[in-house]
Amino acid sequence: MHQDAERVLLTEEQVLARVRRLGEEISRDYAGKELLVVGILKGAVIFMADLVRCLTIPARLDFMALSSYGVSSRSSGVVRILKDLEQDITGLDVLVVEDIVDTGLTLNYLRENLCTRDPASLKVCTLLDKPERRKVAVAVDYNGFTIPDEFVVGYGLDYNGRYRNLRDILVLKREVYTRPAAGDGGCAGGEQGV
Ligand code: PRP
Ligand code: MN
Ligand code: MG
Repeated sequence: MHQDAERVLLTEEQVLARVRRLGEEISRDYAGKELLVVGILKGAVIFMADLVRCLTIPARLDFMALSSYGVSSRSSGVVRILKDLEQDITGLDVLVVEDIVDTGLTLNYLRENLCTRDPASLKVCTLLDKPERRKVAVAVDYNGFTIPDEFVVGYGLDYNGRYRNLRDILVLKREVYTRPAAGDGGCAGGEQGV
């Protein structure tokens, strides 16, 4: 286990077993259709890579990158598109893939934004759901694990850009995200969405 971790929340094996089942479920639900899988950079990339390889239906991939306007305005729900989709999604079956739904602000914005583009259908798959932190109610169609309100990293999830490449999902030691650190842009963190 990584030295900055307090404990393992989900092992790589547990995650991959769940991802396989999600892939089967999604493939059944979309049988006979082709999916456009939209990964939300950067947190979703590892999960998305594993999930799409568990699909038995045709799938195309695209990506979006979003950013909230700084920590203080996170609660306002103001989200900025840093990178938009490369294709028009009108008439397509779209599955948004996220690593985690925390306050729900990112997903709420995404749902509203993508709906205006008239996809044939729009569903959301998240690996992790942290309902205790929710600020806005948002529909999640596929959820890997419901987790408690703890700061988790690994398997794509980061703290200040780090730990995404760890294979397990780990609970970060409190002292790691409460200590002011040089080079972290003065952001003391404490929120999952950083
Ligand atoms: C994280 C996470 C989700 C979002 C969830 O992304 O990957 O996209 O926050 O938080 P919310 O429900 O409170 O909106 P982040 O903005 O940290 O970017 P990243 O994916 O590049 O880490
Ligand atoms: Mn993200
Ligand atoms: Mg992040």
